[in-house]
Amino acid sequence: MKIDLLSPQTFAAGQPHDQYRWLREHAPVRWHDEPGGAGFWAVTRYADVWAVDRDFQAFSSEPTIMITDPPPSQADAFGPYKMMLMMDPPEHTQFRKLIRQEFTLPAARLREERIKALARQIVDAVVEKGECDFVDEVAGEMPSFVIAELMGLPLTDGRELYKLTETIHTAPEALPPGAGQAAVMKMFEYASGVIAEKRARPADDLASKLLACEVDGRRLSDMEFLLFFLLLVDAGGDTTRNLLSGGLLALMENPDQFAWLMADLPARLPSAREELLRWTSPVIYMRRTARRDVELAGQQVHAGDKVVMYFGAANRDPATLDAPETLDLARDPNPHIAFGTGPHGCLGQHIARIEIDAMLTEVLTRMKDFELAAPPEWLPSNFISGPKAMPLRFKAA
Ligand code: HEM
Repeated sequence: MKIDLLSPQTFAAGQPHDQYRWLREHAPVRWHDEPGGAGFWAVTRYADVWAVDRDFQAFSSEPTIMITDPPPSQADAFGPYKMMLMMDPPEHTQFRKLIRQEFTLPAARLREERIKALARQIVDAVVEKGECDFVDEVAGEMPSFVIAELMGLPLTDGRELYKLTETIHTAPEALPPGAGQAAVMKMFEYASGVIAEKRARPADDLASKLLACEVDGRRLSDMEFLLFFLLLVDAGGDTTRNLLSGGLLALMENPDQFAWLMADLPARLPSAREELLRWTSPVIYMRRTARRDVELAGQQVHAGDKVVMYFGAANRDPATLDAPETLDLARDPNPHIAFGTGPHGCLGQHIARIEIDAMLTEVLTRMKDFELAAPPEWLPSNFISGPKAMPLRFKAA
């Protein structure tokens, strides 16, 4: 089996489940070459992904969770600062504590009514048209509005920020020269405006709270705020969008399961949502770096080696899940690992679940007989998986 988990082409029609299957069966911790880089261990079995993600003492999130090491220009831009996604405890714990309260289940539930109203508004805008690009006009709207609300920004600004992250996430060769850098600068300029505005007029929002809080007895620096801002816009955007688009596609491709869900949507949505998370696994991987020599599933991993956890592969491991290659919306229990686990386990997961339920409820009850108006186009990314464009035709219910 030819294994290539780096080429964006490998992910151009969804995740490479045939490669994942071969790897789980034959080489669950396998060395993968990396043109221009040091190479990495690809980890594909559930038990090993779980163990690596939880063992921050052996597997560090520094210097980055991306396979490619940060370019020197990034060190110039960010100085000594980094996102908390790329920190280890105890530093990570200190930073996560600053925003944890906003993301607990009770805090997320307080936002539920507002999120439902946003979902109605998003579907209102397309339902009479009878066709739309589901990714851009429906799925992408929700997370950008929610981040804007959390940060206390106008909803339209949320949409603009989301467009910037899309550019930032696009492979540089697919963009006009300098476009990626320009998008980062625009994001920073915008966040600098937020700093000025929220310092002058603090309100009851996460941006104001972050600017007021302290680490080691001092306020966050502007750069630390900017990196939090980037992380939140980044982490909650494409992921939720891709779950919604990829999830809807999975329903269209599995009409029996779709019919089962619609027979009692409110009662069946929770298990269906978890199964769609398992099935789509929007985050393809997270990287760690071994701090010391360690044995993993019989492989000797050396200090300094890159170790990459493939969540989509773990989520189809027959050693942990019954009939994992079957979409089973009633699956219970469903111990999927689409949100990761351990110290970095997705902070936004309660909000994400509320967003997903609100959007699916609106879409599935108000847009009917939907079908693809053209084949979906997938994101050419080896990091985040999902349709980039998905033109739909439908009728108003
Ligand atoms: C379907 C939607 C989502 C998926 C699949 C997802 C998945 C993930 C994954 C896999 C991680 C890394 C976990 C690890 O390393 O073990 C992560 C981290 C994170 N996510 Fe999510 N996420 C989603 C939605 C959101 C939303 C809506 C927000 C915020 C509003 C959010 C905020 C974060 C943050 C802040 C982190 C970093 C946590 C840390 O470093 O401590 N995510 N997410």
